[in-house]
Amino acid sequence: SRYCVIMAGGIGSRFWPLSRQETPKQFLDILGTGRTLIQQTFDRFSSICPPENFLVVTSIEYKDIVLEQLPLLKPNQVLTEPFRRNTAPCIAYANSWIKKRNPDASIIVTPADHLILKQTEFETTILKGIDFVENQDALLTIGLKPHRPETGYGYIQVNDDTSKTLGEIEPVKTFTEKPNLELAKIFFESGEFFWNSGIFLWKLSSISNAFDCHLQDIQQLFNSIEDKIDTVDEQESIKNIYVDCKNISIDYGIMEKANNVFVLTAEVGWSDLGTWSSLYEHSSKDNNNNAINTGKVLTYESSNCIVNLPHNTKAIIQGLNDYIIAESNNCLLICPKSNEQQIRQFTADIANQF
Ligand code: GDD
Ligand code: MG
Repeated sequence: SRYCVIMAGGIGSRFWPLSRQETPKQFLDILGTGRTLIQQTFDRFSSICPPENFLVVTSIEYKDIVLEQLPLLKPNQVLTEPFRRNTAPCIAYANSWIKKRNPDASIIVTPADHLILKQTEFETTILKGIDFVENQDALLTIGLKPHRPETGYGYIQVNDDTSKTLGEIEPVKTFTEKPNLELAKIFFESGEFFWNSGIFLWKLSSISNAFDCHLQDIQQLFNSIEDKIDTVDEQESIKNIYVDCKNISIDYGIMEKANNVFVLTAEVGWSDLGTWSSLYEHSSKDNNNNAINTGKVLTYESSNCIVNLPHNTKAIIQGLNDYIIAESNNCLLICPKSNEQQIRQFTADIANQF
């Protein structure tokens, strides 16, 4: 049977002041749709996977917020990590839990903080992918057509012309996680590459084999506490092995190295909502191209702004063009969209000053 693993332990640091250590972006309704990003993630797979087969892997500090936002999950479906060790240990933990119940499982692994606009196309894509991995020893990722030389993504090279392979499953020639800008430009311009969406499909047996080959040390740690999973000793045992577990993402640890990686390329209206500009791009806009996502806002002589204010905040915005205006938990940001790359620095400055 099918399982869906939602990885929800990240902190989303580029989205200050909305995304904060206490409430990272996966737990926020940043588009003002009434559903938070993790709720939207759950909804997206709910026709594909029964509620009892969802797992959320997250930091111990977010367990309560996950259960509150996803009331269909039972407490034992939220796996909690004592420290952030990136996505490889997170996936290994989910594998151990699933193995106890169903060694023949097929698994969908998904980030908790993305946007998918075309639900119907997305479901078709996932079903096609599941069908593929259930019938062979393959690690499948969903790939997307790149539209800028972004350095924050994984790049997937295929043999064929990328325009011919949309909607198809292709063997992956190379996988390069987060290339530098120079390399990203070469990849982007060559037309041979897709972006990695971070959504993976595989059988439990295939991903377990890959851990045995490429991340043996992590796999051995989890093997050593196999009989503790789903017992009263689980938390304690996990805490002990996470101390020794290395910090590595599945992309660097397995996807770059394995030789049975495939990509299913799709056009599903994907965004990882990584920056304010990407959020702006996907928000609905008024006649002056202002995206008022949340808050009670009137604008005058203003255009191309993105506004995320607390739901009950009333605001007047006059004479601003191309600005980010965002407030959350007593922190306010007013900054031209073109300067958004500095937000990480602003966050550090504000932490130092106050
Ligand atoms: N449980 C848990 N523990 N979850 C984690 C951890 C962790 O230590 N670290 C990250 N996550 C979760 C995040 O919350 C997010 O939902 C997902 O795992 C991916 O982590 P990111 O930190 O957002 O990865 P990334 O954006 O740098 O890169 C990945 O996504 C890109 C697409 O957005 C890679 O897969 C890239 O190859 C890909 O292009
Ligand atoms: Mg991400």
